[in-house]
Amino acid sequence: MAAKILVVDDDPNVQRLLQYTLKQEGYDVIAAADGAEGLRLWAQETPALVLLDVMLPKLDGYQVATKIRQDEGGESHVPIIMLTAEREVEQKVRGLRAGADDYLIKPFHPAELMARIKSLLARFAPHDNLVGHQPMGRLLVFYGAKGGVGTTTMAINGAIALHRELGRKVCLVDGNLQFGDHRVFLDLGLDKKSIVDVVTAPAIDIDLIKQVVVKHDSGIDLLLAPPSPETAELVTTEHMPHILEELRSAYDYVLVDIDKRLDDINLGVIEAAETVFVVMTADLSCLKNVRLVLETIGHLGYAKDKVKMILNRSNAFTGINVKNAEGALKRTIDFQVINEYRGAISSLNSGSPFMFTKADQPLGRAVLDFVRVVDKSEPAPKAVLAR
Ligand SMILES: Nc1ncnc2c1ncn2[C@@H]1O[C@H](COP(=O)(O)OP(=O)(O)O)[C@@H](O)[C@H]1O
Ligand SMILES: [Mg+2]
Repeated sequence: MAAKILVVDDDPNVQRLLQYTLKQEGYDVIAAADGAEGLRLWAQETPALVLLDVMLPKLDGYQVATKIRQDEGGESHVPIIMLTAEREVEQKVRGLRAGADDYLIKPFHPAELMARIKSLLARFAPHDNLVGHQPMGRLLVFYGAKGGVGTTTMAINGAIALHRELGRKVCLVDGNLQFGDHRVFLDLGLDKKSIVDVVTAPAIDIDLIKQVVVKHDSGIDLLLAPPSPETAELVTTEHMPHILEELRSAYDYVLVDIDKRLDDINLGVIEAAETVFVVMTADLSCLKNVRLVLETIGHLGYAKDKVKMILNRSNAFTGINVKNAEGALKRTIDFQVINEYRGAISSLNSGSPFMFTKADQPLGRAVLDFVRVVDKSEPAPKAVLAR
């Protein structure tokens, strides 16, 4: 049976064009010319996907999306693509906050629209038969060989890519307990619950953790770091592996962002990990740190492929190229992520990661390539045995 798509757009030309294009691709199309009519058709016809213009008479696109999500009440989820004439990031963020899953800027190429529709239908369709689906339970750690190399950037955007592009259920843990940045990077206040709420409870189990995780607009769940450095002390060496094990039982991917300290807490996290991604840049002090870390991890007797190297800002000019770095480390760099200062910084300042609002830009594509490889790789045997 052809999937039914609801088009809500007041411009008769756009409506006609969309109807034609979609029907050519074999979809059933129903159309509404204003927000109120759109809502009515959505309720009556239960389409598989909604294409929603932002500027609409009566109710605008944001209001329609918000109302649909309210009425669904978390029970169901129709994928919504927002069609917007504006280029501003704020507009996109507003659309996504209102409950849209994707957006396209007019004018767009029909092939682009089809690709987005197919990806969203694929992302949401399997969930109907996901009853009994076992969470994959993969635990990935992002370890910064030095502060400022982009560890948090990789962890946050990698998490969002795994969820939004590959449809995985993802929890991101801020393991930088004293000075975690996730609240700042994701524009979340100090009032949001954190890992402290987990470790101060009488018993730690997944039901409790589920009440503490914060739902981000991108669709990933977050276990935040304590709101202040003092409270970080409440989290002990025993807590982390326990919490991570609980999380693995409920998510496809658990990603942990940790800093360079090789203290007992971080070593516990590394021990529990299926793969440790060491994030580095091509400079001397970073290379020195990476060598020390590889040595230390080597002493601990882990399988060689437990550690993978990510060279961030790989094409930035530092005088050290990839070959030099590989030579100095006596091993290959597994992943490279391009240097794109503008893309990285603007998303930082707006509190919305580039993978969320600019997934189609070069940096977003680099992260997507990375998670695709990770997702295709076989989970390490140890991670399977530990379950
Ligand atoms: N690929 C990249 N290209 C350009 N700038 C980047 C890139 N990755 C990260 N950055 C920038 O580097 C800075 C440090 O990033 P962050 O993720 O906080 O590092 P860490 O967690 O290792 O301290 C941020 O300003 C970020 O925007
Ligand atoms: Mg960081």
